[in-house]
Amino acid sequence: MQQRWFSLLIALSVVAILAIVFVPSANAGGPESAPNPGLVENQVCLSCHSSKQLSMKLPSGETLGLYTDEAAFNKSAHGLQGQRCTACHTNITGYPHPPTTARDIRDFSLQMYTICRQCHDKEYQAQLDSNHATALASGNRNAAVCTDCHTAHTASNPNNPRSRIPQTCRQCHSTIFDQYKGSMHGAALLDQSNPDVPTCIDCHGVHKIADPTTNKFRLGSVELCSKCHTNKALMKRYNISTNVLNTYVADFHGTTVEMFEKQTPNQPTNKPVCYDCHGVHDIRSPQDPKSTVMKDNLLKTCQQCHPDATTDFPSSWMSHYDASPTQYPAVYYINLFYTILIPVTIGGMGAFILLDIVRRILNRFQKAGSA
Ligand code: HEC
Ligand code: HEC
Ligand code: HEC
Ligand code: HEC
Ligand code: HEC
Ligand code: HEC
Ligand code: HEC
Ligand code: HEC
Ligand code: HEC
Repeated sequence: MQQRWFSLLIALSVVAILAIVFVPSANAGGPESAPNPGLVENQVCLSCHSSKQLSMKLPSGETLGLYTDEAAFNKSAHGLQGQRCTACHTNITGYPHPPTTARDIRDFSLQMYTICRQCHDKEYQAQLDSNHATALASGNRNAAVCTDCHTAHTASNPNNPRSRIPQTCRQCHSTIFDQYKGSMHGAALLDQSNPDVPTCIDCHGVHKIADPTTNKFRLGSVELCSKCHTNKALMKRYNISTNVLNTYVADFHGTTVEMFEKQTPNQPTNKPVCYDCHGVHDIRSPQDPKSTVMKDNLLKTCQQCHPDATTDFPSSWMSHYDASPTQYPAVYYINLFYTILIPVTIGGMGAFILLDIVRRILNRFQKAGSA
């Protein structure tokens, strides 16, 4: 049945193929008749491939659909450029096509995506170092390649609108996407189109996605959060404190993490980084009842590493606050007391020693004089 259908198509197309595919210049024509020679040439391919019924069986038994949506292709970045089908499908010059060696649909995609390299070598080279490429090389066929994120025929700017980025990753990381969607950052992007918050790629990169479970990534994450959270102009819009890094680095947890990051970035650390307290993909406002740093949940957050901590444990710690007469007054006044006491004590001792020396010198002179 399908076989007969193909024969008809082939018969219909043969003339066009001979005229256009094998002698492309014959089609160049005047600009008025063929405004876009690439797209006109594509009609040859589309004479068969615009049929929704066209498909082929692969050795695995899977059916590969061969329909190409012309309108969608013409609206893509490549269609708008007037790219020919054969710019990518360089091995196809007419029908019959060279036989494909793909065993199943995924195999077909994994063989085909390398054609992007011809024109986007920069992205291709970057991708080689990514976590996805590593996973692919170690046999995980589900790891993302160019066409998973961009598609083959409808590629367009993946950052327009910006909310498309997490949607791209969602295809395979749907659990993380759902967490992100409910987070402070994700909700701002997906519900309010707010461009100030991070998408997946602000934290992970795009083509060169690194393994986020390494010590290096962990230690570097403090800087990642701080890039935005110490930006005064940005945070002022949301009335969020930019003192979060300073206070973190000043306390017993952050001091060590900062030192490790500067001196031994591959060392493990048992001290918390920002996301140990705030969560990673589900970061919420401290006022949100589901927040890990909300008062009622804070103890549980500390107990991850301080298993013996009791109810008042968190209040023994100043969080991101500097001590002041209203926040942590006891700490503030003790600090103040020492700020005054220490100079006075040391100054007093200095003065005492100095006076003593002067006295001794004078005494010696007096003794020498009287002798
Ligand atoms: C006469 C009809 C016809 C024309 C014209 C045609 N194709 Fe095909 N195409 C097919 C059929 C039928 C298959 C199924 C596999 C086979 O028979 O080789 C196919 C398979 C394919 C495949 C998937 C398998 C493979 O070989 O990679 C691609 C890609 C493809 N065609 C692209 C194109 C492009 C690009 C053009 C234009 C240069 C084109 N085709 C022109 C009929 C056609
Ligand atoms: C930007 C490069 C590019 C252009 C331009 C392009 N293709 Fe493709 N095409 C691909 C890639 C990559 C695949 C493999 C997709 C996959 O992973 O299944 C593909 C797959 C196909 C297939 C197999 C079925 C499928 O969709 O997977 C057909 C048929 C096909 N292309 C026809 C066309 C036709 C017809 C045109 C012109 C209108 C065209 N292509 C233009 C890159 C391109
Ligand atoms: C024959 C050359 C060629 C091939 C092959 C090719 N592209 Fe492109 N691509 C271009 C050109 C030209 C543009 C438009 C100019 C630009 O934005 O860089 C473009 C634009 C894009 C864009 C949009 C960029 C933006 O910022 O809007 C994406 C995404 C893209 N290509 C992905 C792919 C993928 C994925 C493949 C492989 C399936 C591929 N391209 C294969 C030439 C090519
Ligand atoms: C995991 C998903 C993913 C994979 C895999 C991927 N890309 Fe991208 N790509 C993106 C996203 C997201 C952007 C938008 C980046 C931005 O706007 O900052 C992008 C941007 C682009 C652009 C626009 C210019 C640029 O560099 O920002 C091109 C061209 C492109 N990708 C081509 C490719 C090619 C070729 C491959 C395969 C070697 C590939 N991409 C693999 C997600 C991906
Ligand atoms: C086609 C499916 C697919 C898409 C789309 C995809 N990924 Fe992945 N991703 C994977 C697979 C498979 C792995 C390997 C999982 C593993 O090794 O446990 C992976 C691994 C990762 C890892 C490393 C996880 C680890 O534990 O080492 C990160 C980070 C990641 N992806 C981020 C992204 C981002 C960001 C995007 C969107 C720009 C994206 N991915 C899009 C399939 C995908
Ligand atoms: C604010 C920064 C940030 C954003 C935004 C972000 N991530 Fe992550 N992601 C991280 C950090 C940090 C880790 C490491 C967590 C750990 O080791 O416990 C991580 C881990 C991962 C992992 C591997 C670990 C796992 O849980 O499987 C994947 C996959 C991943 N992210 C994908 C995504 C995707 C997809 C998005 C967008 C929907 C996204 N991330 C958004 C910071 C971020
Ligand atoms: C690209 C910039 C950017 C990065 C990177 C970033 N954030 Fe944010 N973050 C924001 C913005 C903007 C808001 C405010 C969103 C709103 O109110 O709609 C926010 C909100 C928050 C809030 C809620 C504050 C409140 O009082 O409501 C917390 C907590 C937070 N971020 C922690 C983190 C942590 C931890 C990291 C690193 C893992 C991080 N952020 C990375 C931009 C960023
Ligand atoms: C030991 C746990 C812990 C660590 C580590 C930590 N935080 Fe916090 N963070 C908290 C708590 C608790 C609060 C809530 C304070 C309150 O109730 O006002 C908070 C509040 C915040 C807020 C909201 C401030 C506001 O003005 O609304 C931001 C933003 C924030 N942290 C970012 C960070 C960043 C960035 C880092 C890393 C440099 C970090 N945090 C490290 C526990 C922590
Ligand atoms: C990721 C693990 C981790 C988390 C989460 C964590 N801490 Fe710690 N904390 C440590 C480590 C490690 C030390 C250093 C212990 C040492 O040197 O003996 C420490 C030290 C301290 C100290 C200094 C006194 C002491 O016991 O040595 C206080 C106070 C403290 N943490 C409070 C908190 C509070 C409050 C929270 C919750 C908001 C918290 N920590 C969350 C790992 C963590």
